Amino acid sequence: MQQKILLTGCTVATMAEGGIPYGLIADGAVALEGGKIAWFGERSTLPDQFSAFDQDDLSGRLVTPALIDCHTHLLFGGNRAREFEMRLNGASYEEIARSGGGIVSTVNATRDASDEELIAGALRRLDDLIAAGVAVIEIKSGYGLTIEDEMRMLRLARHLETLRPVKIVTTWLAAHALPPEYKDRADAYLDEVAIAGLKQAAAEGLADAVDGFCETIAFTAEQIQRVFKAAKELNLPVKLHAEQLSDLKGALLVGEYSGLSADHLEHLAEEDVPAFANSGAVAVILPGAFYTLRETKLPPIEALRAHQVPIAVATDCNPGSSPLSSILTAMNMASTQFAMTPEEVLAGTTRNAAKALGLAGDYGTIETGAQAELAVWDAEHPSELSYWIGGSPLFKTISSRTAA
Ligand code: NIG
Ligand code: FE
Repeated sequence: MQQKILLTGCTVATMAEGGIPYGLIADGAVALEGGKIAWFGERSTLPDQFSAFDQDDLSGRLVTPALIDCHTHLLFGGNRAREFEMRLNGASYEEIARSGGGIVSTVNATRDASDEELIAGALRRLDDLIAAGVAVIEIKSGYGLTIEDEMRMLRLARHLETLRPVKIVTTWLAAHALPPEYKDRADAYLDEVAIAGLKQAAAEGLADAVDGFCETIAFTAEQIQRVFKAAKELNLPVKLHAEQLSDLKGALLVGEYSGLSADHLEHLAEEDVPAFANSGAVAVILPGAFYTLRETKLPPIEALRAHQVPIAVATDCNPGSSPLSSILTAMNMASTQFAMTPEEVLAGTTRNAAKALGLAGDYGTIETGAQAELAVWDAEHPSELSYWIGGSPLFKTISSRTAA
C-alpha cells in the first residue's frame, strides 16, 4: 500500500484492550501510510497532516481489524464425509481413530495428493476465510507424518501467501498421530520424525511454532514434553491440542514452556485455570470441533473469564473434527454454544488470536504502528459479526498486501 489513505464516515472498533466495549469510536477516521496505521480516532480530532490523504468515505460502515484464524489444518488431501456418516451411525471419533481411520486416513490422502491438488483444495477453504474478512491464517502440518511430507505441507502452506493477499503462519504438528509404519513405536517416531524433522524445518525457516496432540488417542504429556524441549532449544514457541477429549494436563505443560496457547480445552479442570492464567498463554476455543463431534462437556469459559485468560476463537478447519471454513460461523457458535459475548468473540478472532500467534501489536487491533489490515463491514454494530448465521456482511478488506 503505497498510497496515503484516510478512511472516514465509519464506526471504528479498535478492539484495544480495556476501555470502552470494542474500543468503539462512533464518527471515526483511520489514516493509513506505508502499509501501517498512522493515526485513528474521532474524525473531529484529525490532525491536519492527515487531511490531505486520499479520502475513502465508508458511508457509515463498520471498520474492524481484519480477522485472524489462529488454528487451522487448512491443507489436506481428501475428506472424511464417510466418517461423519459412521459417527452418525454410532461410531465414536476415538473408535474410528483406533481402527485406522481418523487422522491417519487423511495422512494417506495427503501423501497421495499432488502439490497442485493440495493447493487447489486449500485455496477453496482459504477463499471462504478471505470472503469473511480474514487476513491472517495459521496452518499446521500434521497430515504428512514423514519428515519430507511434513516439510512439504509447510512449504505449500507458505506458498499460499504468494497466491492470495494473506499472511500465513505455519506450525509444525508432526506429533499429531502415529503413522502406521511406526505402530507401537511412538517414541521412535518422535525421535526420528517429529523431533529430527523439526530441526530440519527450523533450519529451513519453515515453522513459526510447534504444536502437538496430547490425548489418549495420540501422545502423552511426557512425549509432548520431549517435543517441547526440542522446540525450546530451537527457540520456537509451542502450543498444544490439549484437553479436547480427556484431561491429560496439557494446558499446564504449555504454561511450563511459556507457550503461546492451549487449544480446545473442553476437559480443562477448573482448578487448573489459575495456574494456566498465570502462564499468560491464550485459551483457543474451537467450537466447530465441539459441534461436529456433538460434544457435551463445555470448556470452563466462566473460570477462564474470571481469571482474565485471553480467549481466542478459531475454525480448527480440518477434514475430521471440524470441516468448517467460516470464521463468522465459528464466532456465532462460540456465542451460542459457550455463552461467550459478541465482544469476547470478536476479541477472540482479532486481538487474542494475534496473541496466540505471537503477533500482538502488529495484527488484531487498530492502533498506531500496527499493520494496515482492516475489514469493512456492512454492519452498524460489531455484535452483528457473531449474530448472522451463514452469510458474510463483509463489504471489503483493506490490506497492505494488495495495491490498495
Ligand atoms: O484439532 N485434535 C487433533 N487435531 C484436529 C483433528 C484432526 C483430524 O481429525 O483430522 C483437531 O480437532
Ligand atoms: Fe486442531
